Amino acid sequence: MKNLLRPTLEKANVNSGISWLRPANLMTALLVAVVTAFPAGPWAEPVSTASIQPEKAILADRDIFHPVIAENGMVSSQQTLATEAGVAVLRQGGNAIDAAVTVGFTLAVTLPRAGNLGGGGFMLIHLGRDEQSGIDGKPGQTVAVDYRETAPLTAAKDMFLDETGQADTRESRYSYRAVGVPGTVAGLTMILQKYGTISLERALEPAIHLAENGFPVDRGLYESLIVVKKRMAASPASLEIFYPNEGMPPAIGELLIQKDLAWSLRQIAKHGAAAFYTGAIAEKLLSDMSAHQGLITARDLAGYQPVIREPVRGNYRGYEILSMPPPSSGGVHIIQMLNLLEPFPIAELGHNTAATIHLMAQSMKLAYADRAVHLGDPDFAPVPTRGMISRTYADELRALIDLKRDTPSARISAGRPLPHQLPAESNQTTHFSVMDNRGNAVANTYTLNLSFGTKMTAAGTGILLNNQMDDFSAKPGAPNAYGLIGGEFNAIAPGKRMLSSMSPTLVLHKGVPYLATGSPGGSRIITTTLQVLMNVIDHGMNIASATNAVRVHHQWQPDKLRIESGLGLDTIRLLEEMGYPIETRDAMGGTQSVLFQNGLFFGASDPRRTGGLTLGY
Ligand code: GLY
Repeated sequence: MKNLLRPTLEKANVNSGISWLRPANLMTALLVAVVTAFPAGPWAEPVSTASIQPEKAILADRDIFHPVIAENGMVSSQQTLATEAGVAVLRQGGNAIDAAVTVGFTLAVTLPRAGNLGGGGFMLIHLGRDEQSGIDGKPGQTVAVDYRETAPLTAAKDMFLDETGQADTRESRYSYRAVGVPGTVAGLTMILQKYGTISLERALEPAIHLAENGFPVDRGLYESLIVVKKRMAASPASLEIFYPNEGMPPAIGELLIQKDLAWSLRQIAKHGAAAFYTGAIAEKLLSDMSAHQGLITARDLAGYQPVIREPVRGNYRGYEILSMPPPSSGGVHIIQMLNLLEPFPIAELGHNTAATIHLMAQSMKLAYADRAVHLGDPDFAPVPTRGMISRTYADELRALIDLKRDTPSARISAGRPLPHQLPAESNQTTHFSVMDNRGNAVANTYTLNLSFGTKMTAAGTGILLNNQMDDFSAKPGAPNAYGLIGGEFNAIAPGKRMLSSMSPTLVLHKGVPYLATGSPGGSRIITTTLQVLMNVIDHGMNIASATNAVRVHHQWQPDKLRIESGLGLDTIRLLEEMGYPIETRDAMGGTQSVLFQNGLFFGASDPRRTGGLTLGY
């Protein structure tokens, strides 16, 4: 095969010097010429492409995958019972925010590896244009709610370094010192109070029922519990709850009953977030902490506050992109990469061709190199958010892209975005998206960090504890569990939020919610979300095809282009010839998306994770 291809490629080399772009070499010749003539990019305005037709029918005979379709509203989550609980709320007249909070609490019971009360996350909320009585927000407004964990007040910069100065990953991942002050309960209750219409008791009803009476264990949960058993067994409470059959999980189809968790949920239903931060749950959490040399104190819990932030905003081929600002890096880098890519005729270059993947991979490398230096908690470090998402900065970075070859990561370092270029300004996480028929849309990603977090359950609460402290940089250059390198801006400090990749994202078209999406997957969250956006906007795919399509990922360090199985061998060869070290590893991401078009809701749960369900009514 290689020999057969070789003469053609060599011929192309002689003629155009662009053998790397065989699939679209004419287009590439044009591109090379344009970029040579305008090194910083001539692209003041987005290039329009034929694929931008929001009114285009989505269901088409050419499609291999079809989305779920509904008329009144839709929920997409990683667990069937949670999705059903959310849709029941919509059917009863609740809005998308009511449904989202219900899903969030239900997942804490039915998806214990990632759904949580003991972790944190981010929710992007777009409020519909109709006035909704009692809601504390402006019609048409989009808010980004940050309920990320914080470092305890006694945390210190060097707390995870051993006596030789190396990062001790056991301590930062599997000890009580790995636990950040949880934000989920404060976040979800505040969101419901400000933007919801149902009572907290109603939002907690399905979660309490499923914890108290149990729900049938599916293969996904069963196998995940087997995989983590050794570490889970170190926590007597985890062992008792999740391995009730003489050290084994409930068999597939048997009920997982979580009585202590039901008690905690009932406390929250009765006393609100105060139960968790200052009340009966806090009491149990704190005695568990002090029994295990944990850092979280009563002052930490009582002082926890979610923060309402301005989303980061970009525009990609006429679509408004709204995503999570720091302390997540997700939104910043999605917009940065879209800015880098927009001038290129991606639709014409083709989906998952070597030409398109090359441009995406170079954009990813530039973005992740920036992430390692410029990103962190904006309340503690001067994160240059506006500079990073500015088109001027993208033009500067784009000029660094070699159109013919991969630029090795060793030759790429963080750029120098202006602080304010505009005036002022695992697989273990889980995402869900909700839209209703009043124009409200929600994208939420939350997590315990690694699967089942620290694997420790706080005695008497049924609450699994996060290990989010590992998302800080233990020291500059030391990678976290996802291989992500961070710098000074992401150093540990008391009360600080650790940098995240979670990227709940909303796309508006003409001011109306068009797409709600996001993904788990650690460092791959950002690039997974990027590809769903590009598949819909550039390649005109329906949301099911956009979800199912093979993904690629580059995070600058390690210098490897990671691909899913299913990418064509010819494409892989072309990329290798361009200099890419390539590795095929596990499937990436697990998106849950809802798209609104022509008065209908379309949705898809990623087949990469079992147990997901998208349902409308
Ligand atoms: N713990 C994964 C993230 O927040 O990106």
